[in-house]
Amino acid sequence: MNLDKRTLDGSVYDVVVVGAGIMGSATAYALAKRKQRVLLIEQFHLGHRRGSSHGSSRIIRKSYSTRYYVEMMKRAFELWHEAEREACSEVVTMTGGLDFVRRNTLIESKLKDAMRSAGVPFEELDAAALRERFKGAFAMPEDSFVCLHSRDAGVVNASKACEMFQCLARSRGADIAENCKVSEIDDRGDEGVLLRTADHGTVKARKVVVTAGAWAKKLLPPLLGSDLNLSPINTTVVYWRTKADRDPRLYQAELGAPVFIVYADDNRVLNAYGTPALEYPGLVKFCLHHGPATDPDSRLAVPNLEDFDKLKDLTKTFLPNADACQHASAEACMYTNTDDEDFVLDVLPGKENIVVGAGFSGHGFKFGPLVGEILCSLALGEEPEFSLEPFRVSRFL
Ligand SMILES: Cc1cc2nc3c(=O)[nH]c(=O)nc-3n(C[C@H](O)[C@H](O)[C@H](O)COP(=O)(O)OP(=O)(O)OC[C@H]3O[C@@H](n4cnc5c(N)ncnc54)[C@H](O)[C@@H]3O)c2cc1C
Ligand SMILES: *[C@@H]1O[C@H](CO)[C@@H](O)[C@H](O)[C@H]1NC(C)=O
Ligand SMILES: *[C@@H]1O[C@H](CO)[C@@H](O)[C@H](O)[C@H]1NC(C)=O
Repeated sequence: MNLDKRTLDGSVYDVVVVGAGIMGSATAYALAKRKQRVLLIEQFHLGHRRGSSHGSSRIIRKSYSTRYYVEMMKRAFELWHEAEREACSEVVTMTGGLDFVRRNTLIESKLKDAMRSAGVPFEELDAAALRERFKGAFAMPEDSFVCLHSRDAGVVNASKACEMFQCLARSRGADIAENCKVSEIDDRGDEGVLLRTADHGTVKARKVVVTAGAWAKKLLPPLLGSDLNLSPINTTVVYWRTKADRDPRLYQAELGAPVFIVYADDNRVLNAYGTPALEYPGLVKFCLHHGPATDPDSRLAVPNLEDFDKLKDLTKTFLPNADACQHASAEACMYTNTDDEDFVLDVLPGKENIVVGAGFSGHGFKFGPLVGEILCSLALGEEPEFSLEPFRVSRFL
């Protein structure tokens, strides 16, 4: 049920989830499935574009350079498919994926080792095989790069996935309140938590899950005295046209084009990434994985064209049949990075009633349903199915 002002003030829940991006939506669903009375609160309207979970394309893949992410993604894929079946909806399109990594680097050996030890198959392509398999859509400097091709990758429609989890949560009895900003979280220990909203009164709950994206940086410090080094950054989603004299379907997902990642710079884990033409016919998405610091409230949704020459160079090199002279479109987006680019999934130290899921560092979407299960376990005081050692709050305190 969607709640309005009158019905919200003074209400009582088992768990309130703050923030209806992918993480909050999946968490509300997981909790409702466990028969909790749950309220999902969103400061803007559902489906808004000011956070990190909107748009049509997010990469989903098992190719990670750390074993625990590969194992988590094996489980996350199952949960995506379970949710799709329950909702009779399709949000994942399998396309396969390419990882371009510098030859003889740590990232090359870590990626291969993590995938091999987790039993995820992949193939190594040389430049000729790459050209042949994708009809010339992709290329690489063969002396310095290796290409790994994995079938276990694709694209998630982000907006549709959020809608799906909100819809599933509602159908399991969850309430959702949109255009309702939580202004203060007051932890009362044994008595639970009191949430104050900007203009919808107060709500009581036993537990709160904070999945507020970049805004966690604002909600957490009053509770914890620390913002966990969360750094919201400005990123830019860039689309490119196929060259005028080439087959315009070359980068189309329907015709076999994969998702792809370029690990070009040794100083960064992941440098640039792309998805095949899906949301805009004929336009392939290829973007840098970094950007300047931003503030989620004062941010102008103006695309940031910093480092654009670098992106053009990468486009020329890896997408030889895309028109690298002029991008077709650019849209602003936002990541919330942690120093180590690992997530924060934990109960706040000394605040048993408050669970946090944050710092998804530009690669969290694909884990959405698993993060939902994990945050649900934490809110219910249960042991999650994966070790949360890499994701503890304490590493920043
Ligand atoms: C351009 C781009 C490309 C990406 N590509 C990939 C990819 O290919 N693969 C991948 O796995 N991941 C990718 N990511 C990362 C992924 O999209 C994010 O990790 C994920 O969407 C984060 O979700 P979230 O729910 O934590 O945050 P958000 O989506 O920002 O949701 C947080 C919500 O909380 C609400 N909120 C905040 N404060 C309050 C408050 N006080 N009261 C009420 N509501 C509040 C906000 O309005 C917002 O709706 C990408 C991200 C971007 C921006
Ligand atoms: C993604 O989902 C949205 C919302 O359901 C829909 O409008 C859009 O057409 C979808 N995009 C693609 C590429 O299918
Ligand atoms: C985001 O990028 C734009 C363009 O570079 C820049 O002007 C802005 O300051 C950045 N941060 C905000 C506040 O949006």
